[in-house]
This record gives sequence, C-alpha cells and structure tokens, in this order.
Amino acid sequence: MNLIGQPVDRIDGLLKVTGDARYAAEFPEARLAHAVLVTSTIASGTIASIDASRAQALPGVLLVMTWQNAPRLPNGGKSALAPPAGRRLSLLQDNEVHYSNEPVAVVVADTLEHATDAARQLRIVYQASAATLDFAQAKPNAHAPDKPQGRQTDTQRGSFEDGMQSGAVHIDATYTTPIEHHNPMEPHATMAHWDGPQLTLYDSTQGVSNAAQAVAKVFGIPASDVRVISPFIGGGFGCKGSSWSHVSLCAMAARQTGRPVRLALERPQMFGPVGARPRTEQHFVIAARHDGTLTAMRHDSISNTSMIEDWTETCCMVTRMLYAVPNQVTTHRLVQLNLGTPTFMRAPGETTGSFALESAMDELAAALKMDPLALRLKNYAESDPQENKPWSGKSLRECYQIGAEKFGWSRRPHAPRSIRNGNTLIGMGMATATYPANRSEASAIARILPDGTAMVASGTQDLGTGTYTVMTQVAADALGFSPENIHFALGDSTWPRAPGSGGSQSAASVSPAVYEAASEARRQLIALALADQASPVHGLPPEDVTVDNGWVVSRSQPGRRDPAAAIIARSGGKPIEATSTVKPGDEKQKYSLHSFGAVFVEVHVDAELGTIRVPRVVAVYDVGRVLNEKTAHSQMMGGIVWGIGAALQEESTLDTRFGRFTNANLAEYHVPVNADIDTLDITFLDRPDPYINSLGVRGIGEIGITGVPAAIANAVYHATGVRVRDLPITLDKVMRA
Ligand code: MOS
Repeated sequence: MNLIGQPVDRIDGLLKVTGDARYAAEFPEARLAHAVLVTSTIASGTIASIDASRAQALPGVLLVMTWQNAPRLPNGGKSALAPPAGRRLSLLQDNEVHYSNEPVAVVVADTLEHATDAARQLRIVYQASAATLDFAQAKPNAHAPDKPQGRQTDTQRGSFEDGMQSGAVHIDATYTTPIEHHNPMEPHATMAHWDGPQLTLYDSTQGVSNAAQAVAKVFGIPASDVRVISPFIGGGFGCKGSSWSHVSLCAMAARQTGRPVRLALERPQMFGPVGARPRTEQHFVIAARHDGTLTAMRHDSISNTSMIEDWTETCCMVTRMLYAVPNQVTTHRLVQLNLGTPTFMRAPGETTGSFALESAMDELAAALKMDPLALRLKNYAESDPQENKPWSGKSLRECYQIGAEKFGWSRRPHAPRSIRNGNTLIGMGMATATYPANRSEASAIARILPDGTAMVASGTQDLGTGTYTVMTQVAADALGFSPENIHFALGDSTWPRAPGSGGSQSAASVSPAVYEAASEARRQLIALALADQASPVHGLPPEDVTVDNGWVVSRSQPGRRDPAAAIIARSGGKPIEATSTVKPGDEKQKYSLHSFGAVFVEVHVDAELGTIRVPRVVAVYDVGRVLNEKTAHSQMMGGIVWGIGAALQEESTLDTRFGRFTNANLAEYHVPVNADIDTLDITFLDRPDPYINSLGVRGIGEIGITGVPAAIANAVYHATGVRVRDLPITLDKVMRA
C-alpha cells in the first residue's frame, strides 16, 4: 500500500475554496421556482383558519400550499418506514400543531423575494392548547422507549444492591446537558424536479439511497423512480441523516406547480423541524472499594423527545461497556415535550453519556484521593463486560500512557485549586473517548477507461470530511494507478448502493468495497495483457506482473511494460468494469468492536471572573487504520473543537412560554471560533483492526467529540474546586458555587 494513510490533500479542496463545488441549492435549472417554508407560531394546538388571499394575489406567486389544499398522501403522509429511518413528518395533511416552528405552509413564487414576501402575507389563526415545555414538570410522565436505535432500553448485570454493599465509597450525582441544534454551515436545502413519474432531488443529505427510499415511501412510488443527487454537503453532523419534512414538501410543491422547485431552510428553521440533541438528565450512583475497584454502578438517563415520535439519546451505551464493573443497572426514559423530534447529533449518546460517566469517575477519584487515570486503569475492561465478548482490538491503555506522557500528567497535583499563576487558576483533567465501530453492506464500481484513466464510484456521500479523497487513495492502491488518473464519484443514488453516512460507518463500509471492485478491475487488466500476444508482457507468469502508475509491468524485467490504454485498445476498446458488494461478516457476533481514545485537557480559569480558556488538549486515539493522516487529523480537530463548544458554550435556550428557541441564529447560538481554540495535539496509534474489514478501518466520524466535555469539566474542577454538573460550564456556574 502506497497511498492509503498518506496525508494527501483533499482532491475537492480547490473546487471548494474557489466556489466551484455545487451544493444542493446551487444547481441551475430552467423555470426554477422558489419555495419558502412557513412554520407554526404556537407550540400546541390546531390551525383554526388560513387566509391566503393576499399572499396569492401578490406578483409571481405560483402556489400557497397549506393543509387545506395540499395533495393527500398515501397513509396520511406517515412513512411506511419505522422511525428513525422514516421520520414522522409534517406534510400538511391535517391542521394539528405539535411544536413551534413546525412546517404549516409552503409558498412558491417565481423569485425567492416574491415567495418571501407572500409568505409574510399569509394570515394563519391558531387555536392554541396547553403545551408541555418544562422538562422538570413533564418528568413524572417519563416512559421507556422501545429498543432505542435497536439497542436494549435497560440493562442489568450482577446484583446492584450487593455491589453497593461491598463498596466503601459512594458517589450519587446528577448530570444535565442542554438541547443543542446542529448548525452546519450549509443549512438543509432541496431542489425537486419531476419528469413524468420520475422525481429528481438535489438534496443536502447524509444518505442518497436512504433519502430516495424515504421520499418514495411518502409518495407511494417505487424507489427506482426517485433519484437523489448530493455531490457536496456543507456539513451534516446527524441532522442530514434523515429526510425531514421540507424534502417531501419541496417535491409536493414541484408536482403541484409543474415546475422545478428549490426550498432552502433559513437559519432559524434549523431550530425545530430538522432534529436536535435532546436535553438529558443523567443520574449516576457508583460504589467502589478503597483501592478503587468498582463494585456497583447505576446510570439512569432521561432525555426529551417530541409528541409525535420517540427518539432516544442513548446515554448509557458507554456506561455499559467502558469499565469492568460487575454489578450494573442502566435505564433510558423519555419525556415528551412540544418540541421538534430530536435526532442523531455527532456521537449521539456517547457525547452526553461520556460527559456524565467520566465526570462521575472523576468525582469518585477525588473521593478516593486516587489519581483519575489510575482509577480508570484499575477498572480497565479487558473484554466487553456487558456483551461478554473479546474486543476486536483495544489499545486504550496505550492511548492513556502516550497521552499522559505528552501532556505531563504526572506533574498534576492531586488537590484541586493548587496551581495558580497570578489571577489564573490552572487545572488538569482527563477523560476517555469511545465510539462503536459500525459497518453496513456497501457496493462500488470500478471502470478502467479506454484513455487509460479509471472511474470509480459508490452511492456514498462526502459530508465535507474527505470521502472523495480517501476513496481515491484506496482505489489508487488497489488499481495501481496514480490518483490524478482516477475520477471517484459519489453522492448519487444511481451509483451502487452504500449506507447513509451516519454512525461513523462510511469509511469502514465503503473502503473495502472500493478496494475490491478496483482490485478486480486490475486483475482483469492484467489478464487481458498477459493473454494478448501483442503485449510486451505477454506470457509472463501472473505473479511476476504488477500495475504501476497505470502500466502493467514485469517485476523481474521492468523493461517489459504495457500501458492500460494500449491494452484496452488492442482488445476492442471497451472499458474494463468490475463491481463489488462487501457485507459485514460475523465479526459483531464474535467480537465487540469499538474505537477508543484518551483526552487530556488543561484549563485556565480567571479566579475573579470565572472565565474559562482551554490552552491545550492532548488526545490519543485507537481508531484502526487511518486512511489519510491529514483528513483524519482534521476530523479529530473538528470533533475536539465541538467538544470544547459543548463543554463551555453550546446551548439552545428555550422560551417555555412559547416553545421557541430564543437564540436561533449564529450570533447567539455560541460555538467556538478560532480565538477560543489553542493547541490541539492529536495522535493516532494507526493500528489496523484485524476483524472489522479487510482494510482494518473503523471510522472516525464521531469519536473526536466524546470525552472532551468531561475532560474539561474535570479540569475546571481541578482548577477551581468547583464541580459543574450542568453543561455548558459558563462562568456564572463557576462563580455561583
Ligand atoms: Mo452521525 S450523529 O450518526 O451523523
């Protein structure tokens, strides 16, 4: 392998910085009409009346679509797919309102300005009913979700009561995390175009095949009649892993107007109808012996969902697998609120769950007067304690060790509030990062073309993370071609099917399919050359030949070589083509597959103002084989930066009178900027996982954010002596304590 792993520049980098990369809302289309989404202003109730006369009379207006005139969809617009694959959508099929900012109308006009103007002239009268918006009040009605994301709702191992009794030191603490909203630079956008029964969607989506399937189900048409195109995505983070209401509404509007229609969400519309990270309240009870051995652990997690669908933040997943605690109980419960349905948001459950677990472990270490890292090593799980399976590969001990060394952990005094430099309180904290290694069936096609270049494709997506680049590297190594001579295509549901880019699974699923399809095309190229009497390599034994930079070459006599273009020309000029489908094997039955990491953080807290800065993060990861050192490094930087934001800044503030988020814009929804970020020291062990797939790739989409919020909370405690259990850790919480 030559290119796999190399820090190759993004092959789409130039297109992006020059603005030549086309995003969903940027495709030109003749007769394009523009749609504006109108959303509810109440959190619960019904639409009593709609006066569209003024809006309809405005210039350029083509359609005002409301529940009164929207086409009736099969099954009342309820997808035949179970959530979360088929979300419960708001498709104007009735007059009910379940949350504020829920889609209630679509206005279409010849220009965006006309549509925007008309949308403002729509008069909707609501009949409001009492909304449930207060998490604490709704909590007594919490219910158990049914198999959240296919996992067990509750688990129990050993005897929690016995474990509590054999423990000498106990921790009992509740951790809370706020509602957060995904805010990729590119908001959701769709353009829909009907050609007879065929629907083409340009959509910003994390799954072109899933989107085609979901929209087909909504309309009751074959999935083969829907083509979804998504060559570039300006960030997804989970919110674009589902096809929300606007996608089907856009297609409905296009069908009603008989024109292609574009519908792009406005930034405030990102705060409601397209998912969120829900609020969580996580109660931890832990018992341990004086030497740090865990004897019992209980984790009860409550998160909010909507009134229309159960979606669970699976906070307990990390707790179930991370430590060798013999007696454990974990539970998930849901509180229904009049809010939009929450969804996957980068490392859903692992981000919030690892904050609570790794904060609680730090509290236990403090109570035991034990080094927090030593406590983790004391309870290191040599195999998966919940599933009773060996790990496919776990080098967490090494991550801890390398990280501690690079960070200078041994210089950390045990007592909090013991390092001070003038007005600055300095703290050192650490936590564990982890995320499961997922993988699904994926297909790819490879073609060697008559001009001697290759075209390789898969119906996968590039969220901006580097799929184009890493798959080109994989194809180049498999083919023996230089990457400049490979065109890798993705983001189109007509390519061989690949899974949605969620659950950090794209690299692990797609790279083996690309490798196999490209390897098969290379085998065919070699076979053609060896069988061809006119070829300089004719008759050589197969083990003597290789493909180098697009030439079939003899290893023993390098002078005997034949370029791909000549081989194809002599054999009739037809492209060589191979497809491959790679499925998961039985590795998940035999092994527990997870990635791991260790995060060390230094914080500086102003002793008088309580302001917190993070001058240094040291993180070491065991994520299997790294496909591209540079894009992987960027991916982890993004994750860590988001972890810093989650720890210190990010929060959607809810007005519980009206059910609206008061900071639904990028001025008041705080995320880190460059000035908030200092040194991020990132190391990969780069150790191929022997069981996940042929390339040993586990995927790195989500692990980067995990562990970071807890490491920061633990460092803030170490700096100040103040334990903040409620994210984000803002200065008032540090000062108030
Ligand atoms: Mo990820 S939150 O599964 O896009």
